[in-house]
Amino acid sequence: MSTQGKTYQFKLVLLGESAVGKSSLVTRFVKDHFDEYRESTIGAAFLAQTISLDDNTTVKFEIWDTAGQERYKSLAPMYYRGANCAVVVYDITQTSSLDKAKSWVDELQRQADPDIVIALAGNKTDLEARRAIETKTAQEYADEAGLLFFETSAKTAHNVTELFTAIAKRMPLEQLANNPRGRRGLNARDQVDLDRANGTSDGCAC
Ligand code: GTP
Ligand code: MG
Repeated sequence: MSTQGKTYQFKLVLLGESAVGKSSLVTRFVKDHFDEYRESTIGAAFLAQTISLDDNTTVKFEIWDTAGQERYKSLAPMYYRGANCAVVVYDITQTSSLDKAKSWVDELQRQADPDIVIALAGNKTDLEARRAIETKTAQEYADEAGLLFFETSAKTAHNVTELFTAIAKRMPLEQLANNPRGRRGLNARDQVDLDRANGTSDGCAC
């Protein structure tokens, strides 16, 4: 069975220090819009966006944009539990934000789904003059930790679609199509073959 013409739905969580640009990245991805002055997120926000891949496969992301302020930290497991993918964001102008990102990656690798796809995003590349974290430093860390890695700018839209598309392509769609019950650690409740849900596809129900 091929993945062509199918729609897959995944839960994606954004994590990272406050003010690194998590909400701005999601707003750019979902609404193609950027706010120069954005309120800090309270609790978490939910948005959804769909991507069409070259082979006529559609991936729908259900996105939980978490609040980075320390006082909300204890809520995070509620959002990354059962997540199929995560974007951990840092700000290329703030050294501390990469340390925080690394601690989120550690926590995800210890506590989230063992097959979660994690991407590291170094945001605010439009502020090149204030760069504090070299691309090479973050790339080496991402390679060691087995993460996708992109430098992005929610402001200019640099690499934002590319980031989410790379995640969609990294999801094991082929495997899901061939063996819906045997997918690599994806949670049946969090991954839905919508064609099947609509009664237009064969195979077993999830
Ligand atoms: P919390 O909700 O507190 O966790 O913060 P957040 O990570 O969601 O950050 P948010 O998206 O609210 O952005 C914080 C500030 O950074 C806002 O003033 C944004 O306008 C700004 N910002 C976000 N992304 C970029 C970017 O790519 N470039 C520049 N120059 N500013 C950005
Ligand atoms: Mg936010």
